Amino acid sequence: MSDPFRRSARIEAVELSEILRISELADALKRAGRDIITLGTGEPDFPTPPHVVEAAHQAALAGQTSYTLTAGTLDLRDAIAEACQRDNGYRPERGETVVSTGAKQILYNAFAATLDPGDEVLIAAPYWTSYPDIVTVCGGKPVPLPTTAEAGFRVTPDQLRAAITDRTRWLLLNTPSNPSGAVYGREDLEALAEVLRDAPHVGIMVDEIYQHICYVPFHSFRSVAPDLADRTLIVNGVSKSYAMTGWRIGWGIGPKRLISAMIAIQSQITSGPSSVSQAAAAAALRGDQQLLAERNDDFRERRNIVVEALNATGVLSCPSADGAFYLFPGCSAAFGKTTTSGRRIETDADFCEALLEQEGVALVPGRAFGTPGYVRLSYAYSRASLKEAATRIARFCASLT
Ligand SMILES: Cc1ncc(COP(=O)(O)O)c(C=O)c1O
Repeated sequence: MSDPFRRSARIEAVELSEILRISELADALKRAGRDIITLGTGEPDFPTPPHVVEAAHQAALAGQTSYTLTAGTLDLRDAIAEACQRDNGYRPERGETVVSTGAKQILYNAFAATLDPGDEVLIAAPYWTSYPDIVTVCGGKPVPLPTTAEAGFRVTPDQLRAAITDRTRWLLLNTPSNPSGAVYGREDLEALAEVLRDAPHVGIMVDEIYQHICYVPFHSFRSVAPDLADRTLIVNGVSKSYAMTGWRIGWGIGPKRLISAMIAIQSQITSGPSSVSQAAAAAALRGDQQLLAERNDDFRERRNIVVEALNATGVLSCPSADGAFYLFPGCSAAFGKTTTSGRRIETDADFCEALLEQEGVALVPGRAFGTPGYVRLSYAYSRASLKEAATRIARFCASLT
């Protein structure tokens, strides 16, 4: 008899995340009493700023505890418009903005609203692990656009031109990038926009959630190519910049016809984001922005410590990164080598597993991000943890023969 809970054909292709697999392995070792350092998580280690927590408290006390407008409160959408004007030089209208339960839901809503079976979404790789799965769940076909360390992990205009077909519905870019930390400069974006002007059937989704964790000037795609605003969706949110991952607030800025379709879908999924979290997000956007610069300085220092330590291993090759809080070093110099326990390393997954077993450091294999031969680590951890992790990684690399 067929199982009523068998996976639907749509979900069948969605794989257990590699990140989850490594963290399960790390948890098992921890339970067995091992001292494990995990550099796998994708969230800042700072607390949510106190004035933001206070704003949520006051909102709850003032009775802002009912359903809000499905698209998000007018107050938060106005705060997003003000912040966008301040930070990016353009001001979206209320009808061009939708607030969701995290930036992740923006991606779901947009793809669910637009993809028909077989529609292709070009995804710059290395990519955030969830992108292809979200596209698949929404019935589309993810098409990775592989980038190289030599090209700074950025899609080139020629590559984009060659990849666009009649079936392409979207191009999905992420700047600053999870996992590579790559940032598209103004000229990079202008060159891609030039290609996209010749492909009017392609929507452009740019995930700018790490906008404020950036060590070079940040450019929003919409401010670089305002003439393409009619088919551009900008994804952003408070999760990373303001250390608010648990509050679950993200937003999309795009043309009204897309935003209203996304609101229709949201109305049948969550009815709208949390009222109290929206008040908190508005306070984050309108409050003191100096803390972003202070936290950036701190992240940059930590990045430098780790880049230097990893390159000193002589095995990992770690380009520096201009944004986010991730590094994406190559580990292929370890391939063909053997660990002290006799295990031969052939892949990035072997490297991560052996490192975890031998030295208790959890990194994520690059194949989880569509780019084998690399590993991802987050440096949003204390300097003491980072230094200890670097010592252990160096010892592991030196032990390979
Ligand atoms: C590139 C990228 N986009 C979106 C998200 C999701 O953000 P949120 O927590 O607001 O859903 C993440 C979280 O890891 C991310 O790395």
